[in-house]
Amino acid sequence: MTHLLAPSILAADFTQLGNEIERVNRSEADWIHCDVMDGRFVPNISFGIPVITAVKKIARKPLDVHLMIVEPEKYLRAFHKAGADRITVHQEAVMHLDRTLHAIREMGLKSGVALNPATPVETLKHILPLADLVLLMTVNPGFGGQSFIPYVYDKIFQLKTLIRETGNPTLIQVDGGVDKHNVAQLVRAGVDVLVAGSSVFGTNDPEAAIRELKKPISYSI
Ligand code: DX5
Ligand code: ZN
Repeated sequence: MTHLLAPSILAADFTQLGNEIERVNRSEADWIHCDVMDGRFVPNISFGIPVITAVKKIARKPLDVHLMIVEPEKYLRAFHKAGADRITVHQEAVMHLDRTLHAIREMGLKSGVALNPATPVETLKHILPLADLVLLMTVNPGFGGQSFIPYVYDKIFQLKTLIRETGNPTLIQVDGGVDKHNVAQLVRAGVDVLVAGSSVFGTNDPEAAIRELKKPISYSI
């Protein structure tokens, strides 16, 4: 399987958001990653439902909505209505993860659960069949442009093993500090979906940056 790429619009130029989305539409990117922050679960506030509604009007790729908010279960319906195709909630922010993942799937959306760098993979052992995707944060969530945390490679390996044991087709996504220098190693480690913010929108040619990050990875040593 070739890896998927989800550029994060958190790093886009918000004065040019329409043009930035058009660039992603024209590119080889697979999904559009939308980072929603509430100033409570993470120490930053980004954007919410009205922006996602606007993005949906012009996006020609699925919207991958990453909720970094407390009590996300209260807003699932609103994000669905806004146009989310996939919703990922944080394990640390949800009291009843089983119920919340069911609720996402019952709306016909793909479910995702995210883990902060410090949260062990084992916590997902029993609910893995309910998750279409697991997002392993490779930075502490809240800001773009941070450095990749290398110990997450161990977690990728553990998660890969757990997914194999359960026999579910759960995708592994990483988010934070992804760039052209670590993409090959991440894909070889078993990552299916890469989120990239600064390494796409922080360049003067986002489409070329996407092309570079989507290059097929060779598995030979
Ligand atoms: C961090 C967000 C990320 C962020 C990634 O809290 O979840 O999606 O936008 O940005 P970069 O790629 O710049 O680390
Ligand atoms: Zn994100």
